[in-house]
Amino acid sequence: MRVVHYPDPILLKPAPLVGRVTDEVRKKAAEMIPLMHLEDGIGLAAPQVGWAARLLVAWDGEEGTEPMVLVDPEILEKGGGFEDGNEGCLSFPGIFGTVARYQTVRVRAMNLDNQPFEVSAEGLFARVLQHEIDHLDGVLFVTRMKPADRAANKAKLEELVARFERRSTDT
Ligand code: NI
Repeated sequence: MRVVHYPDPILLKPAPLVGRVTDEVRKKAAEMIPLMHLEDGIGLAAPQVGWAARLLVAWDGEEGTEPMVLVDPEILEKGGGFEDGNEGCLSFPGIFGTVARYQTVRVRAMNLDNQPFEVSAEGLFARVLQHEIDHLDGVLFVTRMKPADRAANKAKLEELVARFERRSTDT
């Protein structure tokens, strides 16, 4: 398993529902967590590892807590108004910029035992959940980035596209 980079087409497509968690889903989800740590991320969505499924792993940033796995997550409530924050994405190495996100979210999801649960998040964790759930809809943070920041990253984005095209023709 590896992290796929923009503009891999899987990142641009809405992912299908998981529906029911099987052993295969559990196995792949378990592989995503060490990969996320290895890449120094705090969130990773299944399409980012080339897997078309509505599943994500996210860490709330609290010391001593484990990353959470959310299957078929759904945002029930967004609130607190918008807050600007700096974001990066493991599928966009070297690219960072300001994105406005809701300050709080309440999300319903299933866990790996097929049990529904809800999570209320604020601040950075709310941001991570919104960013990762966007991935499940094929929405990338660069499209939500402040236009000035997107413009500042233009050359880096073009380099990612060029690198992807080189890799596609190499194989
Ligand atoms: Ni991302």
